[in-house]
Amino acid sequence: MLALTGFAAGWHRGVPAVQDVDLELAEGRVLAVLGRNGAGKTTLVKGVLGLAPWRSGIVRLDGRRIDGWRPERIARAGIGFVPQGRGVFPGLTVEENLRLGALGSGRRRPEPALLARFPHLFERRDRPAEALSGGEQRQLSILRALAGRPRFLLLDEPSEGVQPTIVEAVAALLLELVEVDRLGILLVEQDLDLVLRVAHECLVLEDGRPVDWFSAAELAARPQRVEHYLGL
Ligand SMILES: Nc1ncnc2c1ncn2[C@@H]1O[C@H](COP(=O)(O)OP(=O)(O)OP(=O)(O)O)[C@@H](O)[C@H]1O
Ligand SMILES: [Mg+2]
Repeated sequence: MLALTGFAAGWHRGVPAVQDVDLELAEGRVLAVLGRNGAGKTTLVKGVLGLAPWRSGIVRLDGRRIDGWRPERIARAGIGFVPQGRGVFPGLTVEENLRLGALGSGRRRPEPALLARFPHLFERRDRPAEALSGGEQRQLSILRALAGRPRFLLLDEPSEGVQPTIVEAVAALLLELVEVDRLGILLVEQDLDLVLRVAHECLVLEDGRPVDWFSAAELAARPQRVEHYLGL
């Protein structure tokens, strides 16, 4: 279980960029974090990872406090990160990106079966990441995070600027990771279709604070509830 209590992080115009966040993410669950541009979604994720400055509150991983830990220690404790944007080393090959993902999390090497999840990346394993399409780079970024064999995965807008076929492949992978591997996933997203496919619960951030909280079933029944938060 990854749990946040009264969590605040980052800095924006004299106040924390995200604050008052209480949430629990269990293994085998997907929690979506929604909110328009500048709402504080990235700051929340980076704050949990120790990459954005901690302001207040508590972060617990399986009951153990991890707030204040260095990012590399948090990664080794089992929390993986797929950053916003392409999130790969462009000049390194597909395979080298995966090796670094494993090393960065204290593993010797990635699981050999990892690349089998995306056969077109396996075929291009000796090519530099920059030779891949934007969507393939996003997939590689997810595999790189998985190379550290995390138990919790934090993804920052994986669908942003990516073609629908890639979003579909990402959705299928996330469902497999949750249902088969029992990962807990925190999914920052603005794409409601992806959220509806994979999430169990949703939290909405506005101006850095949680303003609404609902189940995926409630979202499916009444998507208008969230559309105005996203400016749709
Ligand atoms: N390094 C920084 N220095 C100053 N302000 C920042 C910094 N990073 C973010 N902010 C501000 O904090 C607020 C929250 O930003 P954040 O990037 O967390 O939002 P977001 O919800 O991820 O937005 P987007 O959907 O555009 O990715 C914004 O007002 C942003 O301008
Ligand atoms: Mg962001």
